[in-house]
Amino acid sequence: MAVACASMTSHAIVTQANVPLEWPEPIQRVQLLAESGVSELPAQYVRPECERAVGSEDLEELQIPLIDISGLDDEKQRKMVLAEIGHACEECGFFQVINHGIPVSLLRKTILVARQFFDLPLEEKQAYANNPLTYEGYGSRLGIEKGAILDWGDYFFFHILPTSIRDPSKWPTKPTFWRETMDEYSQHLAKLGYKMLDAISTTLEVSPDAFQESFGDHINLAFRVNFYPPCPQPDLTLGLAAHSDPGGLTILLQDEHVSGLQVRRHGKWVPVKPTPGGLIVNLGDQIQIMSNGIYKSVEHRAVVNRDQDRVSIAAFFSPSNEKEVGPMKELVSASRPARYTPMTFKEYRSFIRRSGTQGKHVVDSVTSNANIKTRRQCSSLSRAPSLSLSLQQQS
Ligand code: OGA
Ligand code: NI
Repeated sequence: MAVACASMTSHAIVTQANVPLEWPEPIQRVQLLAESGVSELPAQYVRPECERAVGSEDLEELQIPLIDISGLDDEKQRKMVLAEIGHACEECGFFQVINHGIPVSLLRKTILVARQFFDLPLEEKQAYANNPLTYEGYGSRLGIEKGAILDWGDYFFFHILPTSIRDPSKWPTKPTFWRETMDEYSQHLAKLGYKMLDAISTTLEVSPDAFQESFGDHINLAFRVNFYPPCPQPDLTLGLAAHSDPGGLTILLQDEHVSGLQVRRHGKWVPVKPTPGGLIVNLGDQIQIMSNGIYKSVEHRAVVNRDQDRVSIAAFFSPSNEKEVGPMKELVSASRPARYTPMTFKEYRSFIRRSGTQGKHVVDSVTSNANIKTRRQCSSLSRAPSLSLSLQQQS
């Protein structure tokens, strides 16, 4: 479908083909900048005060739930674990799971291999430099807005499932164990992801097929390996700005030793303490849409620190590209009309790929009732374009 696009800066949704192949500015690798020993943050990384990571609340009672999911496979305990998961989805949208069946040694090895990639000489990493059309490979920014404020972090993004969309040229040959480790980890993780999706759909009391149906023929699984170098002025910037994940479900493996993830709970930014061997599960925008707003995706961000780098690996489970995602029929009723306008995941994602992180603005702007539409207060985000408006402009 050819869609007219008045100008590349006009935020209109465009087809993949209309996304430029090049970034709007030369890419600066944050790791290189950090290693060069800069003592002052370059202006592009300085965030407005309202977005900075000061004043986060380290309150125990706001910690995200910790759930032992070993009981999911046990007939007697399953009900209780499901109740915990349902409660966590409703209350928080984020939880940490332990006893998930993935060996801790494999989690550690995966983080190690991820770090080893970033330890490679720059030229070797540059061979995998990504572009805004596919995002696959070695990247240092989200969004293609010229002059945007940038995150203090580099990443490596690649597809895992379905295997037909894997691009072997985007699977590094170095470090030596990258391929086999990522492959092994992803096989375990895919199983865990399906198990969590099954559990979450059960807690919504929809038919077991409803979720599967909403995701389309196959679930997409992609990894983003994040690398946050030490930062000379961590209070002025963010490793990853506030966002909700655009996909369905995310499972995050984070460095056991260096914290950085913060979740927005009851209006406060809460640092998530890494639990050794634990994995973080969070709901993305597509589950908010499918569940007709019963479950919500939750804003989160990554902060950086002065002394230590930090590695995390986010695994995104998303609907098939062409699948039109809307609220599940079972969850729409006279008293709870459909709150979201259906659209394909590809359309949804391309908007985010162009405009970068937007807090929760994107999912809030696809509500079918314009009155529900909200905007972030912070001045830098109040200019954020609206996805539903963009869709209207297209037609
Ligand atoms: C992400 C993400 C958080 C982190 O990659 O989407 O939210 O702690 N990462 O790296
Ligand atoms: Ni995220």
